[in-house]
Amino acid sequence: MKRPEPFKIKMIKNLKRLSKDEREKKIEEAGYNVFKLRSEDVFIDLLTDSGTSAMSDQQVSEMVKTEQAYAGSDSYYILEEVVKDILGFDRFVIVHQGRAAENVLFSTLLKEGDYVPNNMHFDTTKANVKHKGGEPVNLVVEEAYDMDSNTDFKGNMDIQKLEEFIQEKSIEKIPIIMLTITNNTGGGQPVSMENIKEVSELAKSHGIPFFLDACRFAENAYFIKKRENGYEDRSIKDISKEMFSYADGFTFSAKKEGLVNIGGLLGVRDEKLHEKFKNLSIILEGFPTYGGLACRELSAVAQGIIEVVQEEYQTYRHQQVGYLADLLLEGNIPIIEPAGGHAVFVDAKRFLPDIPQENFPAQALTTELYKESGIRGVELGTSAFGELDGEGNIIPAQMENMRLAIPRRVYTFNQLEYVAHSIQKLYEKRDEIKGLERTYAPKLLGHFMAEFKPLE
Ligand code: F0G
Repeated sequence: MKRPEPFKIKMIKNLKRLSKDEREKKIEEAGYNVFKLRSEDVFIDLLTDSGTSAMSDQQVSEMVKTEQAYAGSDSYYILEEVVKDILGFDRFVIVHQGRAAENVLFSTLLKEGDYVPNNMHFDTTKANVKHKGGEPVNLVVEEAYDMDSNTDFKGNMDIQKLEEFIQEKSIEKIPIIMLTITNNTGGGQPVSMENIKEVSELAKSHGIPFFLDACRFAENAYFIKKRENGYEDRSIKDISKEMFSYADGFTFSAKKEGLVNIGGLLGVRDEKLHEKFKNLSIILEGFPTYGGLACRELSAVAQGIIEVVQEEYQTYRHQQVGYLADLLLEGNIPIIEPAGGHAVFVDAKRFLPDIPQENFPAQALTTELYKESGIRGVELGTSAFGELDGEGNIIPAQMENMRLAIPRRVYTFNQLEYVAHSIQKLYEKRDEIKGLERTYAPKLLGHFMAEFKPLE
């Protein structure tokens, strides 16, 4: 039996369900891009786990209690205590979301032609590196790309590849090494403590700063607890603190594991770098004690970080994602195994093997799922991560997935059953699904605004 949810529902939003004809019209009007749908036209929204959490009554009451001040609000000091206590960092700047932390970080550290190794960059991280003239490099272990591999830490950095890369490019060209925990792009897969330690030691031996992209740090810590020797009796909080202890800094989108709708942090140990981040973020984000947010948001983030490391919460969270994955596997739906921490990734290459990646099978699957059942997932494939060659031809992404991200504390197990059932129905008539032609896409982060039309 599943463990019961460690909360009860105090407020609800009624959902509307459009007819299939209405949904067909809506997706056509949206240029076959689910980012352009109105959320009220979506029945179950698995577009993202970012900024979509349900807050606790305690988060909301902390928001009401706090002072709204330009400088020195109590919410800042409350957050400072939590960051020290749980993440183990004394220095940080507040930003409005994760990509703003990336902007401050890379604007400070990167020069034209520099490289940023990461296990795998998420879309905004990749775009932020490129925007500063840098080159993002993914050095995740090979099994991340192997859909048949079912190993425990498919998010790990390939240490040998990293070492060789540093030798090849020279340390002057590598101002930072990053590690994304969990690895969102590669299926929400975790990174082991051993790997975090190894990357940290390698970075230190070359004098290169090592930063965590820590959006989903506590989900990663839970995986370590369950899968890595020696951690089974340690608390999520304790494991989290150890993970952070190996890093020189971190970026954090509080929209994920801050359990809030907006917010982010950029943490750093070095005093001089902190000074630089602070001064730049005053221009880009706001004064350091509010950083582009209303002060009440800081209180919600502080309380959210306290809640996200609670064992009961993480057990529930992983149980939800695992439940959806198990239902899909029972129906032979090809997904990335094992299930990730925040989402289930359906492998469109195997779901729709006859659609070439140039015709965006994961995007086609995502739009069909919306049409069939009103469920919104998101494409993480050639639209999000593909490139263009010199002649404008599409270079497909290595992975071609439809991600079903599960918002935190939002949907019930019944709703997840509906999701599995709908995908099963689609799988049974997968031969009828056609590819798409892309008719428009801006250069950076093109998938957000892209437009498509169905192939005849
Ligand atoms: N890093 C990772 C690993 C992310 O998953 C995201 C956002 C960011 C950085 C940027 O954070 O959105 O606050 O600016 N991921 C969301 C998603 C959008 O749907 O996976 P942000």
